[in-house]
Amino acid sequence: MKLENLETPALIVDLDVLESNMAAMSRLLEGTGMGLRPHYKSHRCPAIAHRQIAAGAKGMTCAKLAEAKDLALSGIEDILIANQVTDPAKVARLASLAKCCRLSVCVDNGENVRQLQEAAGVQNAMIHCLVEYEVGMNRCGVDTPQAVLALARQIMSCPNLRFDGIQAYAGNLAHEEDEAKRREQSDVVENRLRELKAYLEGHEIPVREISGTSTGTVEMRRKDSVYTEVQAGSYLFMDMAYRAVGAGFSHSLFVLASVISRRPGAVITDAGVKSVSVDQRPPAFQGYEDVPVEMSEEHSAIYGDFPLAVGDKLRMIPSHCCTTVNLHNWLYLVRGDKVVDRVPVVSRGRSL
Ligand SMILES: Cc1ncc(COP(=O)(O)O)c(C=O)c1O
Repeated sequence: MKLENLETPALIVDLDVLESNMAAMSRLLEGTGMGLRPHYKSHRCPAIAHRQIAAGAKGMTCAKLAEAKDLALSGIEDILIANQVTDPAKVARLASLAKCCRLSVCVDNGENVRQLQEAAGVQNAMIHCLVEYEVGMNRCGVDTPQAVLALARQIMSCPNLRFDGIQAYAGNLAHEEDEAKRREQSDVVENRLRELKAYLEGHEIPVREISGTSTGTVEMRRKDSVYTEVQAGSYLFMDMAYRAVGAGFSHSLFVLASVISRRPGAVITDAGVKSVSVDQRPPAFQGYEDVPVEMSEEHSAIYGDFPLAVGDKLRMIPSHCCTTVNLHNWLYLVRGDKVVDRVPVVSRGRSL
């Protein structure tokens, strides 16, 4: 099918660019010793996860138990929930899922470790644990090496849990637009993690994995990085927020929109905030990146005398790829001017 025949608004992925972004990430990681465990939240689409695994990713990261289940049901074998799962019913489901795949989860408190052991014991399952260390984002995680040590020891004393290492995500740096500051602060995080690792190893706690980093900070990791895994997600698609950061990947994700109304000085399209998220900044139209876009529920407008007519198609670059994908049921895969496949966003809305 020709792209021009696709009904809009539709979420489209330029496959050539997607593949070149995957190749660029492989080149960045080559020889660093770091593996890629891309974040599922960016596409919520098992078909894309399988492409990432085929391109060399060691497994997937996700944020939610429901996403982990969708990944496991699609045949992904190594899954990290980079988050805390504390609801008792979810802990029971997590233990049951851990029988179907290699499942890791983050922890930052002792009661949660106890819960996980109890549930895993009932299921005779093995749950892999990363202790989350707070490295600047002010989200989850413990603050001190002593607290990490206490949790690591507790995990190691549990027959159905395995201590794998550390989760350390400095999300506060991902979109830092000042590159020098991003680099400098990334080094501070590296040093804190290096000290933490030495401290734990000094107490005979083996640290096999240190997992984290983002599209915005992966370039800051050197060959001798303390990180063993990269959890970047947006590198596949890019968006206006990461464009502002200057992350070295290209736009592959667009909301295809149609011009539905025209008058002197104004162009109106059929893609509003129900088709593209605005949580980070406004989106932009490709070719008109510097023209502000005004959004309402079902419409977006650009103001100026542009050479556009009713029926013309425009590619809108989302401000935030991850939350935009979550507004759509389908991703249309495109090569050149042809739609070559349509894949479901299986985990859309699966935020349990
Ligand atoms: C735990 C975790 N890891 C990694 C990422 C990085 O994702 P991205 O590369 O899309 O910024 C995120 C983003 O929210 C995250 O929450």
